[in-house]
Amino acid sequence: MKKNLLLIVILLGSLNVVKAQKLDIIPKPVHIQQKPEVFVIPSSVQLIIDPGIQKSASYISSGFLKNSGISPKVSIGNKHKKHTILFLVDKKMSLPNDGYQLSVTKKGVVVKGKSPNGVLNGFQTVLQICSAKEVKKGTIPYVQIEDYPRFEWRGMMLDVSRQFFDKETVKKYIDWLAAHKMNVFHWHLTDDNGWRVEIKSMPDLTLKGGFRGPGEVLLPSYGSGNKRYGGYYAQDDIKEVVAFAAARGVAVMPEIEIPGHSRAVTAAYPEIGCVTTQETKSVQGEVKNVWCVGREENFQILDSIIKEFTTMFPFEYIHVAGDEVNRATWEQCPKCKGVMEKEGYTDTFQLQNYFFKRVEKIVEKYNRKTAGWNEIIKGGTLSPNTEIFAWQGVNYGIESVKRGHKTIMIPGQYTYFDMAQSENERGHRWAAIIDTKRVYRYEPIPINDLTHEQQKLIKGVQGALWSEYLDLPARFMEYQSYPRISALSEIAWSKKEDKNWENFYSRLTNSHLNRLANMGIAFRDFPPTANYNKGKITVTVPYTNAEVRYAVQSSEPTKQSPLYTSPIETKDYEHYKFKTFFGEAAASPSVKAEKPAVANWNSSKIEVLKISEDISEHVDKNGIWYLSFVPTEETTANGTIKEISLFENGKLIKSYATERTLKTKSRLRFVIDNYNEKNNYRIDFTIENKEAKESAAKVNLDCSPYQEPEVKVTSSMSENPKFPFSSLEDYKIDTYLRTENSCINGDWILYTFTNAVTASKIDVLTGIPHHPRFIANDGHVEYSYNGIDFEKGDSFNYGNAIIYPKQAVKAVRIMITGTNNEPILAAQDLRIHP
Ligand code: ACM
Ligand code: ZN
Repeated sequence: MKKNLLLIVILLGSLNVVKAQKLDIIPKPVHIQQKPEVFVIPSSVQLIIDPGIQKSASYISSGFLKNSGISPKVSIGNKHKKHTILFLVDKKMSLPNDGYQLSVTKKGVVVKGKSPNGVLNGFQTVLQICSAKEVKKGTIPYVQIEDYPRFEWRGMMLDVSRQFFDKETVKKYIDWLAAHKMNVFHWHLTDDNGWRVEIKSMPDLTLKGGFRGPGEVLLPSYGSGNKRYGGYYAQDDIKEVVAFAAARGVAVMPEIEIPGHSRAVTAAYPEIGCVTTQETKSVQGEVKNVWCVGREENFQILDSIIKEFTTMFPFEYIHVAGDEVNRATWEQCPKCKGVMEKEGYTDTFQLQNYFFKRVEKIVEKYNRKTAGWNEIIKGGTLSPNTEIFAWQGVNYGIESVKRGHKTIMIPGQYTYFDMAQSENERGHRWAAIIDTKRVYRYEPIPINDLTHEQQKLIKGVQGALWSEYLDLPARFMEYQSYPRISALSEIAWSKKEDKNWENFYSRLTNSHLNRLANMGIAFRDFPPTANYNKGKITVTVPYTNAEVRYAVQSSEPTKQSPLYTSPIETKDYEHYKFKTFFGEAAASPSVKAEKPAVANWNSSKIEVLKISEDISEHVDKNGIWYLSFVPTEETTANGTIKEISLFENGKLIKSYATERTLKTKSRLRFVIDNYNEKNNYRIDFTIENKEAKESAAKVNLDCSPYQEPEVKVTSSMSENPKFPFSSLEDYKIDTYLRTENSCINGDWILYTFTNAVTASKIDVLTGIPHHPRFIANDGHVEYSYNGIDFEKGDSFNYGNAIIYPKQAVKAVRIMITGTNNEPILAAQDLRIHP
């Protein structure tokens, strides 16, 4: 008996030995064969580097030291010697561009690439193997890898205009892209809020247009406040960054924003803009931000700017933007109208096309090709060499391909990393809420809409990080980038057939998050889920060994907060917050404990489901209750809901009859003001699954933490009819006020309650929800107990102020004491705590 046991133990032990270690490579390689044995890296290992990639020698040796812990000797050559690591360029290899082979045997390591970039891609794989969790430091398991990218263009854009990132930060950003085998860094260098690249023939572009603040030509924006803010790159800085990127196999594509998004240009050189009698606003609320197309000198200026760009950027493409042009400006300008008349144009898109045809000629003159956002294909034809960036959606990419353009898929709905990653996080929402899984789910080739030939025009896929609100919190730029870019890299590189979220997530959480941490990235970790049921909070950690900590009293968990180890007994589940931490810098958003769903369903066939649930157990007080329908997965948001009713003791409280789709994430309001423990509560609703697609969701019922007393809102300012004052009376967070103009000293917004309200605390918020744009900088709140006499409260801090009333409040007033230096002011519903 004992003997048998021993035998089993030995067998199990040896099984462990023969099992190949997980390498957790991201992006996943095309072919990989692995053996359990390992190559032990000699402590005096030699790296032999092909003369063809000599420029990357120091990058390779320092990266090798960092990831393997072994300081190598480096020599230039192309012959493999025993126990060395050879990096070889072999143009004759029969692999797609950027492909490589990696062979690790007892003889040593050979990384062979068809091009220098291919070798560098192989090098990244070596680094990842050395840093895989299961691989012992100082060893490399025997592997044979043959690998190549699915797409030739694997890009990422960073906006350095709205927030300025210095040269060293940009280099780090590029370094992280290289680690993911991404090969294009799209540098968004100019926009309304700052011109960031030195142009010697136009020095004021940076000297004036590179800064904003009081007394500057550009007003403060995007959190820059009442101070001088900005910066720019000298031409030598740019060249340094370009060389740094080249040593890592990353090409740098510059973007010059023309003819719109050009407030920084027209602030520095007003004569470049149109002369108009009436100011119209761009999508972002900017005025005078368009190049005049009728001013002939502007084309000479563009020629000299583009010429200087080509001395700094050797890359084949210059991106000249063309997005969101406020063409209404041209309709007001005599010079632009003159061109339209002369050319017989009836539409300003034709004028835009005229502009880009001329820009294409300039770009061609300097032996470069033009790239632009998807709007530039409107209004006429362009050169077939012009490459289009489809940002507004997949259909824009389809249209661009059908028009014969090489196309980069960069749909905001999947690859805009300025979008928030979950409902309650900072970030834009206009395209979608985009978490890592949604990025991973994106498939860049719309096969149903394009022929096989047409599909070849999709050259690649790209992400974008716009920087409007990357000012806060610290290192938010890193949080918004990773691990979403890790997912993007796999879409761009790996075979479509190999795509598998669970497998990717396992590689990511097993080894890759640690690699990100070692690169120094403050990435967004995955949050835990916390469930409250019958007096107990139970937390599910997002992956094995995740470090989940919690805080009580609704404060944010920190690195010092207690570690979650077992279920927590409490009745105050609403006051707990949970958060995953990784290393010193990375963390997830915090989450609260959720109560069990009051109902759920899962259907994959065409059917009508009538659901009736007793929810008495879930209702425990008077208040405003919200019923929300939450799809289990994004892919299960199919079907419609209607006839949603809440009953108390069989008597209808309220009913919502109209049909709404599950995609709209409906949230329905019910008021319970007759609560009693003995009452019985029930909800009824109807689901109609109209197609044989999966419809699955849960239904949550939550009591609002706020009061919603009847209120009337008035102001000294004029309202934008699309964002009226009444939007501050509905307590819907996503509808908010936008004024027509910026605020000035003496302006006010007054909230008057029909009946005075007793509150422990009132949050007064300005700016767009989830987004500190158009906030009140200078001002304070006031409150009144009788509606006549007002007391002064807190000053605005980053657009927010808090009131702690001592008696029932009849009115709250926002008082402005200075312009917010933005084109408009935005304000939100009051958050009134009981
Ligand atoms: C863009 O997002 N306006 C290209
Ligand atoms: Zn004009």
